[in-house]
Amino acid sequence: MKFFVDTAEIDQIKELNDLGMVDGVTTNPSLIAKSGRDILEVTKEICGIVDGPVSAEVVALEADDMLAEGRKLAKIAPNIAVKVPLTWAGLKTCKTLSDEGTMVNVTLCFSANQALLAAKAGATFISPFIGRLDDLNMDGLELIEDIRTIYDNYGFETNILAASIRSANHMSECAKIGADVATAPPAVIKAMANHVLTDKGLDAFMADAKKAGIKIV
Ligand code: E4P
Repeated sequence: MKFFVDTAEIDQIKELNDLGMVDGVTTNPSLIAKSGRDILEVTKEICGIVDGPVSAEVVALEADDMLAEGRKLAKIAPNIAVKVPLTWAGLKTCKTLSDEGTMVNVTLCFSANQALLAAKAGATFISPFIGRLDDLNMDGLELIEDIRTIYDNYGFETNILAASIRSANHMSECAKIGADVATAPPAVIKAMANHVLTDKGLDAFMADAKKAGIKIV
């Protein structure tokens, strides 16, 4: 499973990228707003750091306007994936951009039917939002499973990009299901390293090493 990092914070992207933990980046208007930077400028900087796809989201609602924005975003760098919302206008934009050879990430997906439409429209990525479904007492991981089944049934090449990930558990569950990519905030990726028994075991080893006066360098 590929790891995308869901942030527009340059330092955090660099830190994880240096560790080989970043196969791509996703942003959205909220994350760009949080960064306080100009979308074109910060997206260009991210594209220069990361080799993999960098999703940049349109902010228009009508297809023609979305297309103009998508084409402008696509010019930033060859690794841009234009992110469009899962609306009819978004699907229309997806089809045109993907026919032009631009990677497209169709976002705000909350049902298997929506994922089916995105695949038909030639999406490179479909982004089902796990956490926001869980927030409504629905089962976000079940949606990932359903989309995996549907795409495999028919050999759709659209990549399942599990999004709105809130916990380390979401990451391992997505990997078990077979999501192609999971995008998560830096804190969630870091939390994947935590285990209470690792901490406990390390404390005991350190105490014994101190007692025995073990020195290596
Ligand atoms: C994905 O591309 C989205 O930017 C993101 O995962 C949304 O996550 P949230 O529901 O935690 O805002």
